[in-house]
Amino acid sequence: MSILFNCKEEETLTSDVLIIPQPSEKKINNGQFVLNSSTGINYDENFKVSGEFLKSYIEEGSDISMEGSNQISFIKDDALTDEGYSLEILPNTIEIKAKTDQGAFYAVQSLRQLLPPQFENGTFQDDEVIIPCTTIKDEPKFIYRGMHLDVGRHMFSVDFIKKYIDALAMLKMNTFHWHLTEDQGWRIEIKKYPKLQEVAAFRNETLIGHYSDQPHQFDGKKYGGFYTQEEVKDIVAYAQNRFVTVIPEIELPGHAQAAIAAYSELGCTGEQVGVVTKWGVYEEIYCPKEETFTFLEDVLDEVLALFPSEYIHIGGDEAPKTRWENCDHCQALIKKEGLKDEHELQSYFISRIEKYLNGKGRQIIGWDEILEGGLAPNATVMSWRGINGAIEAAKQHHNVIMTPTSHCYFDYYQSENDNEPIAIGGFLPLEKVYSFNPIPEELNEEESKYVLGAQGNIWTEYMKTSEHVEYMAFPRILAMSEVVWSKQENKNYADFVKRVENFHKRLDALNINYANHLYEIEGELLSDDNGLSYQLQTLTSGKTIRFTLDGSEPTINSEAYTKPITITESVSIKASVFNSDKKLGTTFSQDINLHKAVGKKITINKEPHKSYPGSGAAGLVNGISGSDSRYGDKEWLGFWGEDIEITIDLGEEIEVNSIETRFHNGNGQWIYAPKEIHFIFELDDDSFLSNKVSLNSQHNDKVLILDYELSIPEDMNVKIKAITLKIPNYGIIPEGKQGAGNKAWTFIDEIIVN
Ligand code: ACM
Ligand code: ZN
Repeated sequence: MSILFNCKEEETLTSDVLIIPQPSEKKINNGQFVLNSSTGINYDENFKVSGEFLKSYIEEGSDISMEGSNQISFIKDDALTDEGYSLEILPNTIEIKAKTDQGAFYAVQSLRQLLPPQFENGTFQDDEVIIPCTTIKDEPKFIYRGMHLDVGRHMFSVDFIKKYIDALAMLKMNTFHWHLTEDQGWRIEIKKYPKLQEVAAFRNETLIGHYSDQPHQFDGKKYGGFYTQEEVKDIVAYAQNRFVTVIPEIELPGHAQAAIAAYSELGCTGEQVGVVTKWGVYEEIYCPKEETFTFLEDVLDEVLALFPSEYIHIGGDEAPKTRWENCDHCQALIKKEGLKDEHELQSYFISRIEKYLNGKGRQIIGWDEILEGGLAPNATVMSWRGINGAIEAAKQHHNVIMTPTSHCYFDYYQSENDNEPIAIGGFLPLEKVYSFNPIPEELNEEESKYVLGAQGNIWTEYMKTSEHVEYMAFPRILAMSEVVWSKQENKNYADFVKRVENFHKRLDALNINYANHLYEIEGELLSDDNGLSYQLQTLTSGKTIRFTLDGSEPTINSEAYTKPITITESVSIKASVFNSDKKLGTTFSQDINLHKAVGKKITINKEPHKSYPGSGAAGLVNGISGSDSRYGDKEWLGFWGEDIEITIDLGEEIEVNSIETRFHNGNGQWIYAPKEIHFIFELDDDSFLSNKVSLNSQHNDKVLILDYELSIPEDMNVKIKAITLKIPNYGIIPEGKQGAGNKAWTFIDEIIVN
């Protein structure tokens, strides 16, 4: 028996080439190539890495030996772009054309995805594979295609780092941003400073549960370790052999408490501090003394010897300035250098480090806070607090890399299911990652050239194991690979989902613990002249949705969904996806509360932020409450730093007994419930009633959702036409909190009128 590539169970040829990321051009032609022991590989020194990779991939993946005469040939073609390639599968030959070994390597990754997934783990049993004749022409959209991994909060084995790099390479990503130093642990061996290994690499214990759970509890277990220089060299070489550049991040001036715990003289106070045992932002930062610069330059010298990357990431994010404000040395330095404030002192700090690294032929990348006191002359900005940092930097003609939290933070929840593993917060489902366009609309064509690409970030506060990292990375990394590789006009989410479903078999063979939310159901309340109805959809095709309205679990005998469900009263919908008689995925549940404002006309004086549009103003009166933990879902609307005014026109004069609102209060994500709400009721006699309510008594950082209900006493005996809520923004985030000094977000959900 021979195996057809990409075959369905019944072994019919699919009419499509299922590759991730989507190539620029692909076409299936007549005929087929038979890969068997009559096949050989022909490559010269120009294509050593890609040729060897393919040979061993096939030989280790199967019993097919590559000694035959039907050639897979590697051909140099200088007309192609540096990372581009063409792959031509003909009846008796396969031609890979590329200008570089790297381009050919990407051709090999495409060819790999045309082979059965059993090749991934050496379980392919047959003696041949039939590959339909195919033409692929391909090149990346962006030159920077990255994934980040934080090993400070939790650390992972060298084998896992290699597995991660393998996955990047398979997806044609070319950069691994290795976040090596943190408040909670210093993870790279620096021979000149042994206390970095003895002290900074270990914390006494670790927070249990979520940071917002109170009171904080700890596991009482010492945690830590570091990568030796030999291990680092091994990883860098391993990555190089897969065309992945490893960019180390050595954080400064903030996120440096582990180093200061080892060498207290690096801080402003000289006091002994410990390696941090919980998450957050800490005030201990490097004091810009000559001794500190000597330390950092020594550290960087050892780092440079290990990492040949042009770029070195120097951090720069979340550096509270309180220590500098209270330090005689820092204040004297501000005076001496004629600096305006501590932000300019941070720029001075970063610029000095930049100068040092530029002198060694390297360039710096910093998080977008490095814009704050003025950019170092040659710095590349990694924009994470939204995209404004990128816009500002590109307009100043600095290179930028896009990693906004809204689309690139893979530590956020990816599903609304209650059984998701605990995550830092937020909500970033696969489709939202996929929808990301790294080029901000605000940039013109010339400025857009400064956008080098994008990257997914994996912060590991809540990921103790490599399996958990995989769960958070996959499948979102697949979407990110397409964001950075594929042309906008070739992107199509439905088509991508089909390819992801197909890719599951490959991930299984690679023993990658991916999340599977493809069989989840999405619901939407529709409103038209016939009234309200509720629509159910699932991502993958060829499946049946079955539902109940009485709160029971759907079974194979439940009603099959064929058209939107008419809603005339409050209901509790449950639905599941079935593939013939097999239930897939988890049960979808949605309560619809048909309160008095549902479907009524609603206006807001401000548009929600582009990154958190929810389902627009109408989503605030659609009878559906948002998730209790994921503020980025379709129900929550986010506004950044703006005072908002919401008006609901009830369309008639009705008795109202109460009005209830919900605000998110995830302070760690810079989200703050308002301090007050001003309610204004327009009555049937055109007069107004107004009530300003302070939320101060309920307001603290221990509540994640602030629910507020205003009752209207019956004896007031009023009929109401319209309701306005004026909701001032919380203001600037106070010192000592995550995001201090930035504007707070307001997140609001359903406004329930009864
Ligand atoms: C960051 O997430 N602090 C860059
Ligand atoms: Zn100082």
